[in-house]
Amino acid sequence: ALPGIWWAPIALGMALGQGARMDQAAEFDVIVLGAGAAGLMCAARAGQVGQRVLVVDHADEPGRKILISGGGRCNFTNIHAAPDRYLSQNPHFVRSALSRYGAQDFLELVERHGIAWHEKTLGQLFCDGSARQILAMLLDECAQGQVEIACGAPITDVTHADAQFRVAFGGRVARARALVIATGGPSIPKLGATGFAYDLARRFGLKVVQPRPALVPLTLPGDEALFRGLAGVASPVIARCGKASFREAALFTHRGLSGPAILQISSYWQNGEAIGIDFLPDEAEGWLLAMKREQPRASLRKVLSARLPDRLADALCERLGMTGDLGNLSDRVLSAAAARLSGWLFHPNGSEGFAKAEVTVGGISTAELSSKTMEAKRVPGLFAIGEAVDVTGWLGGYNFQWAWASAVAAAQAI
Ligand code: FDA
Repeated sequence: ALPGIWWAPIALGMALGQGARMDQAAEFDVIVLGAGAAGLMCAARAGQVGQRVLVVDHADEPGRKILISGGGRCNFTNIHAAPDRYLSQNPHFVRSALSRYGAQDFLELVERHGIAWHEKTLGQLFCDGSARQILAMLLDECAQGQVEIACGAPITDVTHADAQFRVAFGGRVARARALVIATGGPSIPKLGATGFAYDLARRFGLKVVQPRPALVPLTLPGDEALFRGLAGVASPVIARCGKASFREAALFTHRGLSGPAILQISSYWQNGEAIGIDFLPDEAEGWLLAMKREQPRASLRKVLSARLPDRLADALCERLGMTGDLGNLSDRVLSAAAARLSGWLFHPNGSEGFAKAEVTVGGISTAELSSKTMEAKRVPGLFAIGEAVDVTGWLGGYNFQWAWASAVAAAQAI
């Protein structure tokens, strides 16, 4: 363990060994609930300006989502992070925090720690090495701030009286004038994710926007099963839902649709809605009529397989029920086929749920919080940051950037 970090087994042993009693609360300036991306960042920042900080987490180790993020390389930010890349009931809420701590600020921290990085695509920044480096960096920053981290410590009670928050966890009690909810959202419960933030917020009278899984694969009903035969086939598409659209790869799975375009659109999708897929995003309107003139003896199957994976071209032709030479098909039929290919409607019957969702849409209502400080308007001293809040970023480093920015905003105000 790094100096200054109080690992749970040691922490509990010490506390019990010294005969600590439940009513003898250890005193801190701030208690951060959750040793994830936002919690560690907030703790480090507050600790480094002299606050006595305790972080409590029920998981055995801190930052488990950081470790598995970005396929193990952590897509730690996105250089295009801006308010329009976030979903929230108040789309302006992220503006203040992001403008005061942006992608460049986090990148400077990464570079200060000598972590090599690269831009993969679409402004997404990844470690060259491993996500472990980002976690080690945060723990090092916490150590510099003399932050105490208690892991493997289930939180059994949180109370608030006389402008003091008291937290009972793993057989200990601590108190502080500030409490930060940083326990994230319920996506991927097997990593220790819970809806604790929402329960706690509700106990303090804060509203919670109905959470639902986001950045998640969508499932297709039986009558769209033809496409399930395509499991493993990927193709660049434009996926649309309502006003949102994403141009990235889509992937057919045994259960439905996945791939970055689908994960992105899933955050905007609600039960009962259709999503539209443009399988030919590079083709201008009228391209199929042009092909008829250029290659009247070619079949639709042939022109499609020049543009799409063979199995996908086969499945689409089968669904369209179109055989024979283009030259023998009417312009009206071809225009209708082209329109379907550029706006193929799928009717997902659900998603793969929190078990597979990278993030959660919804959470502690932004209406309850100051966008400048993340402090609850009605409960002075109570803060909420990171994924626990009703702010959800696109795929591509935006969610970590929100975790960092909201954490810094809170730390500056504590
Ligand atoms: P986070 O989930 O990180 O931390 C919450 C902490 O609270 C955890 O340590 C948890 O154990 C603890 N906790 C929960 N309930 C508790 C309870 N009841 N008592 C005590 N402690 C409790 N984003 C991105 O920008 N780039 C990426 O590359 C990825 N990749 C990625 C991959 C996968 C597989 C997932 C699931 C998610 C991502 N993300 C991502 C999303 C990103 O991981 C996420 O948005 C941030 O981790 C959110 O940070 P928080 O600190 O808010 O929550």
